[in-house]
Amino acid sequence: MSAVEIALKMSFHFWRNGNRADKREFVCLANSYYGETIGALGVTDVAIFKDAYDPLIRNAHVVTSPAVADVDAAIGAMRALFEQRASSLATVIVQLLVQCATGMAIYDASYLTRLRALCDEFDVHLTADEIAVGCGRTGTFFACEQADVWPDFLCPSKGISGGYLPLSIVLTRDEIYGAFYDDVTRGFLHSHSYTGNPLACRAALATLALFDSANVLAENRRKAALLREALQPLTKHKHVRNLRERGTIFAFDVDHEEAKRTFSRRFFCQRAATRIVDAAHRLVRLHDAALRAERRRTAASRATHARQAGRHTGGARRMKPTDTSQALYDPLNEGLADLDARGMRRRKTIDGACSAHLNVDGRAIVGFASNDYLGLAAHKSIRAALAEGASL
Ligand SMILES: Cc1ncc(COP(=O)(O)O)c(C=O)c1O
Repeated sequence: MSAVEIALKMSFHFWRNGNRADKREFVCLANSYYGETIGALGVTDVAIFKDAYDPLIRNAHVVTSPAVADVDAAIGAMRALFEQRASSLATVIVQLLVQCATGMAIYDASYLTRLRALCDEFDVHLTADEIAVGCGRTGTFFACEQADVWPDFLCPSKGISGGYLPLSIVLTRDEIYGAFYDDVTRGFLHSHSYTGNPLACRAALATLALFDSANVLAENRRKAALLREALQPLTKHKHVRNLRERGTIFAFDVDHEEAKRTFSRRFFCQRAATRIVDAAHRLVRLHDAALRAERRRTAASRATHARQAGRHTGGARRMKPTDTSQALYDPLNEGLADLDARGMRRRKTIDGACSAHLNVDGRAIVGFASNDYLGLAAHKSIRAALAEGASL
């Protein structure tokens, strides 16, 4: 979200430096999520994160998302706003292709192509939040490649450091970059104590190198094909709807009230002691309410850890499977067994009192973030680069 803050500030500041300070409003899509700092909340449309802070937040214009309407209707809504207010708009910000935090809602890349054209027509910046979808997660290195467009601000973050360390990066065009360099009073002053942190940058360089040396994109396509196959039985389940995918993201909706409430919790509890990473990492994220599931996952990990430490919590044991939820797990478990047979499943356990200390396939590693989307954090070259960086 630091990257989002930078992009929003920079967009406004660019217009200001060009004597167009009226262009100060932001636009976001319905149901979008960009993080929880005050600025990011202004362009976020998820009540649970922002309601409490409403008096502090400068809200953006919220426009129909192509994930819930067809592309024509979504572009039409954006055009209507632009026609009315373009002279006051700095940037529109979008999560590219998948609105992850609100149910993995996927939309068509053609929306982005048309949005880019609209932004050009009305002189409004396009900011691409690729924090959860970039760096190979949706099939191409940058998600925007699938729409054959470049935004004015691109925030790759998360995946860029292999899921190891936080690193905020914003890419922009030369024209925008240059607008801050003629005079220090017009400069873009934005920093943190750990800006340009050498270890995080070392992790990022090692991650980028992996994309070349280990052909991560091709490997992801192979894993996605296996996951697609493993999940096929689910399409026949009477309570499963809308199995969808983009790159290594797979999701489906559970159309059953009781299963909706218990599915994520049971799945995470079952998997807490043998968490699955690498290709199967995606499976632990198959939930229709990311926030609830994340909390339950944490609770499940704690319960497991407490049990391992000899303390009795009993939480996980108290849960009773119902026929419906069991019927949902069976195909998943079969799929996992299949991945196991192909040597694609790894055992990841929490190794000590701190959940950052992990054991992956018998090797101890320290994980600094929960964003190991592509399973790269355990790769030996990233670990070696970090060890080397730390010893300098
Ligand atoms: C689309 C998107 N933007 C921004 C963020 C915030 O990123 P961070 O938590 O690294 O600040 C997230 C986090 O999940 C996200 O999914």
